[in-house]
Amino acid sequence: MTIRLGDIAPDFTAETTQGTIQFHQWIGDGWAILFSHPKDYTPVCTTELGYMAKNKHEFDNRNVKVIGLSVDSLNDHDGWTRDIEETQRCTLNYPLIADEDREISTLYDMIHPNADNTMTVRSVFVIGPDKRVKLMLTYPASTGRNFDELLRVVDSLQLTADFSVATPVNWRAGDDVIIVPTVTDEEAREKYPDGWNSIRPYMRVVHQSQVHH
Ligand code: BEZ
Repeated sequence: MTIRLGDIAPDFTAETTQGTIQFHQWIGDGWAILFSHPKDYTPVCTTELGYMAKNKHEFDNRNVKVIGLSVDSLNDHDGWTRDIEETQRCTLNYPLIADEDREISTLYDMIHPNADNTMTVRSVFVIGPDKRVKLMLTYPASTGRNFDELLRVVDSLQLTADFSVATPVNWRAGDDVIIVPTVTDEEAREKYPDGWNSIRPYMRVVHQSQVHH
């Protein structure tokens, strides 16, 4: 099954390092990130999972739960967790799914046979409180992801979910944002009484501090 942006993220039951979970129930009312790594006891994955653990508070602050996945066993996850904690100096503070039968990897199309027949690629799914897929990333095994970028996109996804704005290239929280073209100038005048910078009629910019209910 192909998953596309806007689709309901497939629900599943999984064995994790923090017990059995039912995915949608586990997500609750907030946001979630489901991310796969290719294999336990591998170097790049070790750095990624350690970095996520050390920065989990940033995801907590944004009301985003995080959960990892690979096709390795719970036993391997538990053993490797000790290595991650020791080498990356962290506490692995989020669950890892043991998808030994590849049910979830298949559901989310995380195994790309022309890249590798057995391991999952480095997939990321950002899921909103409505359980719909808001963003997907796919990286190969040889390239570790930029987890700071995940925080940046969550900031954009959460802002643009609440307001009729979009975020420009390399935007970071606090920068100027763009008034989406579907908002008329008349509507914009109501939302932004202090005005906006009209670079082109279709390119209207306001500072993020102006964006509020
Ligand atoms: C790694 O995490 O270092 C890795 C995993 C699978 C294949 C290649 C590298």
